[in-house]
Amino acid sequence: MIRFENVGLRYDMGPEVLRDLSFEIRRQSFQFLTGPSGAGKSSLLRMLFLALKPTRGLITVLGRDAATLSRADLPSIRRRIGVVFQDFRLLEHMSTYENVALPLRVRGKDESSYRQDVIDLIKWVGLGERLNASPVVLSGGEKQRAAIARALIDQPDILLADEPTGNVDPPLARRLLRLFLELNRTGTAVVIATHDLALMEQVDARRMVLADGRLEIYD
Ligand SMILES: Nc1ncnc2c1ncn2[C@@H]1O[C@H](COP(=O)(O)OP(=O)(O)O)[C@@H](O)[C@H]1O
Ligand SMILES: [Mg+2]
Repeated sequence: MIRFENVGLRYDMGPEVLRDLSFEIRRQSFQFLTGPSGAGKSSLLRMLFLALKPTRGLITVLGRDAATLSRADLPSIRRRIGVVFQDFRLLEHMSTYENVALPLRVRGKDESSYRQDVIDLIKWVGLGERLNASPVVLSGGEKQRAAIARALIDQPDILLADEPTGNVDPPLARRLLRLFLELNRTGTAVVIATHDLALMEQVDARRMVLADGRLEIYD
């Protein structure tokens, strides 16, 4: 679904942060992306989301060479990729419901066609009581789940999550992990960037490990 070939990345005139990355994210696969702070996990996720261009190498997303995509092509590809950013990026003047519904609204869908799906998904992530609350009054864990619901509402082929358990206690982290596994079982490929070893130990999943700019993969 996504393929990297000899991808390298540097910021401005700095050293190469990522070097010679070659890997594939397969349809319906589940993997952790790990490595110490500063290893390049967030940078790699940004490249997977086509929000950052590699300095060299080839990225193919859903069969298309990322370098040849125009700005106009991006929305239709990104719609198939759900992202949970580390800082959530929820809109504070909107309710949980409106935040989660936003991708569908932006797409011009009629609210009557999705209203119940949005409510059901918000309940599924355990925020049924917070439907009309502003993100301002949500706890860190609640914001995390709202961001996850927004990433999932348009049924992406792939979910990218950057430290999705970074703000929650271990029981909630385990619950979120179960949520990702359940999502994966329904057919979505999942990439979770994390340096939470306790979290990774709970699942026998593929690990993509970044260190010193290079990637090692343990299937
Ligand atoms: N926008 C940026 N400009 C310059 N350097 C950056 C930028 N973003 C990240 N870096 C650098 O790239 C390296 C990898 O960062 P990052 O991808 O955030 O790692 P991680 O998510 O694993 O902590 C770090 O050395 C960081 O300082
Ligand atoms: Mg990061």
